Parts: sequence; C-alpha cells; structure tokens
Amino acid sequence: MSEGLDGVVAAETSISRVDGENGTLIVRGYQIEDLVISHDFEAMAALLWRDDAEAGRAARSMLVDLGAARGRMAERVPALLALCRGMEPIDALRLAVASVPCSNAKQESLDVTAMATVMLAALLRGKSGETWIAPDPSLAHAADFCRMLFGAAEEDRTRALETYLVTVADHGMNASTFTARVIASTQSDVVSAVTGGIGALKGPLHGGAPGPVLNMLDEIGGEAGIQPWMDRHLGDGERLMGFGHRIYRRRDPRADVLKAALTRFGARDDNRVALAEAVENTARETLARRYPGRGLDTNVEFYTALLLEAVGIDRRFFTPLFAAGRVLGWTAHAREQIATGRLMRPLSSYVGPLPEGETVALAAAG
Ligand code: ACO
Repeated sequence: MSEGLDGVVAAETSISRVDGENGTLIVRGYQIEDLVISHDFEAMAALLWRDDAEAGRAARSMLVDLGAARGRMAERVPALLALCRGMEPIDALRLAVASVPCSNAKQESLDVTAMATVMLAALLRGKSGETWIAPDPSLAHAADFCRMLFGAAEEDRTRALETYLVTVADHGMNASTFTARVIASTQSDVVSAVTGGIGALKGPLHGGAPGPVLNMLDEIGGEAGIQPWMDRHLGDGERLMGFGHRIYRRRDPRADVLKAALTRFGARDDNRVALAEAVENTARETLARRYPGRGLDTNVEFYTALLLEAVGIDRRFFTPLFAAGRVLGWTAHAREQIATGRLMRPLSSYVGPLPEGETVALAAAG
C-alpha cells in the first residue's frame, strides 16, 4: 500500500509534467516561465483543450466562445446569488459550478470556466456591498474578469490576474485534478468533474493555503516576531502555509513566476513585501534545520497570497480565484480521461474485523 498514493502513477497524460527533483513544470511542451509570457488566457485554454491546430486562430475563436459563455452564465447569477447568501465564497462557487447544465464536453468546459469568473466577481462585489457587473462578451476573458471585479479593465491589474490564472492553470496529478479524473473515469461529465475538483481544492493542504499565508504575516507583525512565531507554531505541530510540496524537493517554479509578476505589478506596500521576504528566508532555514534533506521550500501559494493581495482581492476569495485558473486544467484532464482513460478503481487494505473462521486472505481484497 502507498499511503497518500505516494509515487503511484495513475494515468498517462500529454497535458503537463511536474519534475520535483529539478523544480520544473512543463505544460504541453512549454516551460511555465515561457508560457506566462507567450500565452494569454484564451491561448492557454486553446492549448489545454486542443480545440484547434493553429494557436492564433484558436485563441481568436476562444475569445468569442468564452465571451458567449460568460453571457450565458451571467443569466444564472441573480438566482445563484440569492441561493448562496451567507455561504463561504468557495462553497458558493462549488454550488454555482454544479448548477451548470450538462451539454457536451466542449460547451461544458467553456461554461464552467465562464461561471467561475462571472460568479466569483459577483460574489466578491456582493461582499463589499457593491452590485455585480454583467460581463462584456466582446472583451478578452482576463480583461472582462478584471472589469467585473473592479469596475474597469485596468491594464496592470488585468495583466497580473492573467499571469496568475495562466500560472496555476495546470499542475500534473495534484489532488483536485486526480479527483476530477476519477469522476471523469466513470464516463461522467465535465461539470461533475470540476465540481469535485473544487471540493478537493478547498482544503488547506491544497488550495486553501494562501489566505492563511496572509494571516501568518499579520500575526508575525514585524521582523523581530518571525522566529518566535515559527518556533511556537511548529512546536504545536502546525505547518507553515506556503511551504513544502508533495512532489517538489526544491523551490516550486511558480513561486518565482508569481514573485516576478508581483514586482512588475508593483507592490502597494513595500513594508509588507520586505516582511514577506524575511518570513520566507526564515521559514526556509527553519524547515531545512527541522527536516534536513527533505527540500521543503516555498510553494506557489506564498507569492499567490502577496500578488492577489497587491491586486486588491479579499483573502477569502483566494481559493475560488485559484479555481478560476485551475478550471482549465480540470476540464482538460477530464476530457483526456473520458477520451483515453480507464475506470479508476484502486484497492483498499481492509484492517477491520473478520467473520469467525475467515482467514486473512479476505483482507487483501478490494
Ligand atoms: N510546515 C511544517 N512542516 C512541514 C511542512 C510545512 N509547510 N510541509 C511538510 N512538513 C513536514 C511534515 O509535517 C512532515 O513531518 P513529519 O515527518 O514529522 O510528519 C515532513 O515535513 C515531510 O512532509 P512531506 O511528506 O514532505 O509532506 P506531504 O507531502 O505530506 O505534504 C504539503 C505536502 C501538504 C503541501 C505540506 O508540505 C504542507 O502541509 N504545506 C503547507 C500547506 C501548503 O502550503 N499547501 C499548498 C501546497 S501547493 C498546492 O497544493 C497548490
């Protein structure tokens, strides 16, 4: 048995490859550092969904298709907002995505991607007492998302948001993608796969980490408080959010992509960034001392938190925003699994009581 499925290869994929030893991420043949420069959201969707052989043409038709999908999904927003009152944003998003009608894999992919941004923007504005802004289907996806969130598609904010969404769009067989693939492996639909993916993403060991990263910075307060805070929390058996990874034995390459995006965007609070850098350095040193040779280092969530905070996103919305990017990967994997995969049905090792007279051989069965 491999607890946590450590080291188990569960599927063949042509979508992405995470190399934990060398700290690299390749998506459909591109290094992540190059991909965020060469691909906007539409081109990333076209690349992941393989809808068209010619990238430029695909990206143009993707802009039209995604715009139309945002328009379709916006019609559902008033009813969904009424239904989701009082819910945590990630739970509201899960409900909204689950409500997307099943049609065919291509349209479901467009619709769940559109729903993630339209609903998230409506929820975020609602939390600050502002009315939601309907999408403008003529705009590119990231620009329209920025406009729905902040009232205007400002260039620097749009670019920062788009870099974030593309950076997190796919990442190998992570927990939420595996969940999506298990659901798709039953020949279920893309909507169900993405709904399950959101459920898996929600946990603090996966996509729920960036909000707590900011809580950690707030609690630490200043440089003098870093080491005592870490010693106290690690001593209580807690984990440092934004550090460590099941696959990476060194720094997550997405951390540097997002750090560069933060520098380009221009942090709104230099003291915050200076404190974060000091926390990052101390965390790396402390974890290296406690777990020598394990290679616990900064993961994607640390600079996600700083970038999204600088852009002006409320920390309770960080995990739903992660979903708005990762939805591209979930849909791509679900479609790949439906097209090429086999029903996923592993075994479990039974450790409960046996009926009288039964031998232990029964325990090995699934
Ligand atoms: N802080 C403190 N200790 C840690 C951390 C951390 N961030 N990460 C791992 N460890 C410890 C573990 O507790 C374990 O100690 P033990 O042997 O005494 O039990 C040891 O290091 C080895 O752990 P791993 O096997 O490397 O950890 P695992 O693969 O189970 O967990 C995980 C990976 C969940 C990401 C973990 O590093 C963690 O909890 N990090 C904090 C949460 C976080 O940042 N999550 C986002 C991950 S990125 C993403 O999903 C998008």
